[in-house]
Order: sequence, then structure tokens, then C-alpha cells
Amino acid sequence: MELIQRPRRLRRNEQLRTLVRETALTPSNFVYPLFVCEGEGVKREIASMPGCYNMSIDNLVEEVGFARNEGISSVILFGVPDEKDAAGSGAYAEDGIVQRATRSLKRHFNDILVIADNCLCEYTDHGHCGVIDDGEVLNDPTLDLLARTAVAQAQAGADIIAPSNMMDGFVAAIRSALDRQGYEGVPVMSYAVKYASGFYGPFREAAQSTPRFGDRSGYQMDPANVREALREAALDVEQGADILMVKPALPYLDIIRAVRERFDLPVAAYQVSGEYAMIKAAGRMGWIDETRVMIESLTSIKRAGAEIILTYFARDMARAL
Ligand code: PBG
Repeated sequence: MELIQRPRRLRRNEQLRTLVRETALTPSNFVYPLFVCEGEGVKREIASMPGCYNMSIDNLVEEVGFARNEGISSVILFGVPDEKDAAGSGAYAEDGIVQRATRSLKRHFNDILVIADNCLCEYTDHGHCGVIDDGEVLNDPTLDLLARTAVAQAQAGADIIAPSNMMDGFVAAIRSALDRQGYEGVPVMSYAVKYASGFYGPFREAAQSTPRFGDRSGYQMDPANVREALREAALDVEQGADILMVKPALPYLDIIRAVRERFDLPVAAYQVSGEYAMIKAAGRMGWIDETRVMIESLTSIKRAGAEIILTYFARDMARAL
């Protein structure tokens, strides 16, 4: 009888499948994004992100404690300030919301990595990621503010600075400011490849950071481009990035793979708010099995080549494992 190949032999039971599984997720892969706001005792659920909250610092500390007990050891902080202005000064104020939250987390935990998102859009009254003149987002004047923000974040104890603003030269500007101030040991995780994506919608609701006019396609990338992604990543490597991030994740698995193959730095991917919202919404409608789709989508992101995954599912996933 003709010999037929039988790949099903290794799928016959869970033990065999586990034995040959190529991709495994662990809680140490995950970074948990959190929104911190002013006040005390505040915990407001974000309507389009069920299970995610705007939290005041006291509740943030509690949440990070829960996550830590489930095996999550990294968080990334986004600030939701009460006051916004044209220059986004809350981003770099010594007592800015993220700086205070970072100090507080560092006082409470000695084994939690605090990553500070570095951008202005949550702090500007116009909602853009940089300084505006005549309807234009100015590049170089914005760099100075991002550099100040990075130094303020490092001073507060942030372990990693994660610039997400997509100005040209932002890694170099942040790296040299950190080095000048004695923070040469603080790594930069660059949102090297960040697309102008409709998947950020729920985040903008959470951070109240929707641009008042125009959109971000003058600085974030065109979803149609892959060569440009490699060029963006190469520039960030030259400027001293320590970790490269691709964002969003699921619609850009090919980009994660391309960056993984081209560069030897650790690669991170951000499963963004809209990716989370879609899974949550369809799960709630009973149209998909939320847990299964969560595991499958996170597995695909890791399989594509990201060893670090920023995900709002961090706690759910840690519990599922
Ligand atoms: C700040 C920033 C954004 C996200 C992360 N950092 C929003 C944006 O660019 O509009 C989005 C993250 C998410 O959607 O979960 N620039």
C-alpha cells in the first residue's frame, strides 16, 4: 500500500499537541496598558473597552497589585490629565499625572517594570501629538518637548521610555536628552512602526485625545506600506532604539514578521484598543468565543515574531494560562 503522510498522528490528543507546539505564551511576554487620571477613588469604565478603566493613582496601585499576583510584571502608563493646553505641558511637568503615578508604583512595588508612553496628544488641547502652527504639526519644536517629557519620566523612576508620537528624529532626541541627564541606562522602546489606524478609536475615547481638526496621517504611517516600515525601523535603530514596536498588531502581522527578520533587536507589538474592542464586542454578542479568540490572536502575534505584546487582555490572558 502506498505510504501516505499522516500529520494527524501528532494531533491525536492534547499531550501530543502540547509536545509539538511551536509557540507558547507566558505572562512575562505581556505589557499591561493602563490609563491614569486625577482624583481619588476614581475607577471609570471606558465604554468602548469593557474591563478597562480610567483610574486614579490609588486604584491604579491596586490594579497593578492584582496584575502582579497573576504574573504580569510590566505596565505601560497613559495619562488622562484634567487640564490640557496647546503645548501639552502636563506631559513634562514634574508633577504630571504619569510622573506621579510612576513614583507611586515605584514606592509600592520593587518588581514591576514601569514603561512610560511618551507623547503629547493626551495633554494638548488640540489633540495632536506635537506643537501646532498654522494647522501644521511642527516636527523639531516638538522634539524638545518629547525630550523633556522623557527626562521627567526617567526622573520619576520610569524603567523604559516608549515614544509613540512619530515625529522624525524622536529616538535621537530622547536618547541624547536622557544621556545628558545621566539616564544612559534607561532603554527606549520605540513605536518605530506606527500606522495611522482606525483601530485607535476606543483609546482616543479613553484618553480624550481625538484631534480637534484633521487627523494623524501627516505623521503616522500609511497602512499600505511595508518598505517604509523597514526604513522607519532602520532609522530608529541608528538613533539608538533598544526595542522596536509595531502597532497595531493583528492587521500588521506581515510587518511584525518583516521587522523580526530584518533586525536583531527585541520586537514588541501593540494589540491596540480597537482590536480589543472588537473581540470583546463580538464575545458579548455571543458571536465568537472571546477567550478562544483572545488566545488565538495573541498566539498569532507571537508567532509572527513579537516577543513582547502590549495588550489590554494581559490579566485575562494570564488567568487563562
Ligand atoms: C499616543 C498613543 C495612541 C495609542 C498609543 N499611544 C493613540 C493615537 O496615536 O491616537 C493607541 C493605543 C490603542 O489604541 O490602544 N499617540
